[in-house]
Amino acid sequence: MKAKKSALNVLITAGPTQEFIDPVRFISNSSTGTFGWLLAKTAKQLKYNVVLLLGPSNLKPIPEIKTVNFISALDLKKQMDVYFNWADWIICAAAVGDFRPVIRAKNKIKKNQPMEQIKLRPNLDILKALGKKKKNKILVGFALESHDLLKNAKAKLKAKNLDLIVANQISSDKNPFGLGLTSAYLIDSENFKQYNNVSKAKLARIILDRLSSL
Ligand code: CTP
Repeated sequence: MKAKKSALNVLITAGPTQEFIDPVRFISNSSTGTFGWLLAKTAKQLKYNVVLLLGPSNLKPIPEIKTVNFISALDLKKQMDVYFNWADWIICAAAVGDFRPVIRAKNKIKKNQPMEQIKLRPNLDILKALGKKKKNKILVGFALESHDLLKNAKAKLKAKNLDLIVANQISSDKNPFGLGLTSAYLIDSENFKQYNNVSKAKLARIILDRLSSL
């Protein structure tokens, strides 16, 4: 009898990071985690094994999906190291902060303390590091650009050794965060396709179908 092919393991990151300055203040971004969360939900419906690494968000847990929460880029990197070997596909939808404060003050900084500048140091580009060691895993990244969308996204696809990149425009009248319709390019090394005003759930399904054909 032919053995049943086991389901693929899909690791998805979602949401923002928070990089703390002191116990109450942090540097973050506007990501709500919605798109990565929808990707995880859709992948589960397609019967894949799913692990979701989720940054700070108001999203409800999805039954039957193992969800691991992270706060900072360093936390996300640690969890990525835990699940990397397990994953067949890695989809990095998290909006990872590029910088973190050099010092996280132990106590709340008082307003009468002089503080003209916050010193930052770069975070590791987790996706780029994954691209270097991915071998035959499928690796998907996102690009959020305010100008030269296609050009910049294609450069990121190559520089980070990705199989697919999802490129979103951000401008005064286009905000890709949260619920609602979205527009994006899906770009691989040979082709790109534009999707305009589609629901995020539909785009999530399109991406997963595309990956299964790679
Ligand atoms: N990413 C990451 N680690 C970082 C920054 C980003 O893994 N420190 C990943 C994100 O999960 C996303 C992709 O890289 O999939 C692109 O993120 P984006 O913010 O668009 O681009 P950057 O590579 O950070 O470049 P830039 O900020 O210069 O546009």
